[in-house]
Amino acid sequence: MSTTKPGSAQAVAIVTGAVAGIGRAVARRLAREGLAVACVDLQDAAPTVAAVAADGGVAAAFRCDVRDAAQVAATVAAIAAWKSPIRNLVNCAAPFDPTIPLIETPLERWQIVLDVCLTGTFLMCKQVVPEMLKGGSGAIVNISSNMGHVGGAGRTPYCTAKSGLIGFGRALALELAQKNVRVNSVSPGGVLTERVITRHGSAEAATRNMIPTHPMGRIAAPEEIAEAVWFLSSDASSFTTGTDLLVDGGYCAI
Ligand SMILES: NC(=O)c1ccc[n+]([C@@H]2O[C@H](COP(=O)([O-])OP(=O)(O)OC[C@H]3O[C@@H](n4cnc5c(N)ncnc54)[C@H](O)[C@@H]3O)[C@@H](O)[C@H]2O)c1
Repeated sequence: MSTTKPGSAQAVAIVTGAVAGIGRAVARRLAREGLAVACVDLQDAAPTVAAVAADGGVAAAFRCDVRDAAQVAATVAAIAAWKSPIRNLVNCAAPFDPTIPLIETPLERWQIVLDVCLTGTFLMCKQVVPEMLKGGSGAIVNISSNMGHVGGAGRTPYCTAKSGLIGFGRALALELAQKNVRVNSVSPGGVLTERVITRHGSAEAATRNMIPTHPMGRIAAPEEIAEAVWFLSSDASSFTTGTDLLVDGGYCAI
């Protein structure tokens, strides 16, 4: 069991990077299934909490830098005091990474991408897994990327972090395989969010530039990624652990 059935006690799903984009769509999707969603972000997640409430769901905002071990521990303790059991964790936070050749990439830029994506996921799992074991079940979904499967010129930190998340998920899945906690990842292709709008300069440019690399002839809406996250978070994927699900419109099939 990794989800709340209607009518049962309200279990908690933690979503990091929940302020906008994919994180917000995931928070709304999980809340629609009856989970109380803890929206964790460096920024104030009040807009996501309001969106969930407008849908008729339950959510709360927790401000936290997932790179900071003390903040993560305090945040997970605060979430457990808010509601329990914690059944789901979606590690979605990532910093913006500009496209820069490796020889021009400052060490700080390399460090922040690895720290948020990898160390942040490690720290969240380290605090949340004991809560899942206490509650008897859990499902973790890490948000990787098509860039975790293929290279992207000028994206060495991001490609390293995102492929690292897939390895991290496999290892942790094996550790927890007989403890009723599943660990998987979702690898989106291009999704229209602030991240890609910033990279390409506008929504129109992002869409135009990314269409040629996506065989389906379009990029995704955040809600399409949220569906895959829900699948891996729910009992619909009860025999699935240690895997990665590409949701990339065929990007990696070429
Ligand atoms: N948009 C895409 O095309 C795309 C494609 C593949 C993978 N992804 C991945 O999906 C996830 C969400 O992407 P998005 O496009 O919605 O991004 P986004 O930039 O809109 O959201 C990222 C969120 O992470 C938060 N964050 C950053 N650093 C943090 C920290 N230290 N602690 C806590 N929160 C922090 C930000 O405040 C932001 O709310 C990311 O992991 C991204 O790498 C996105």
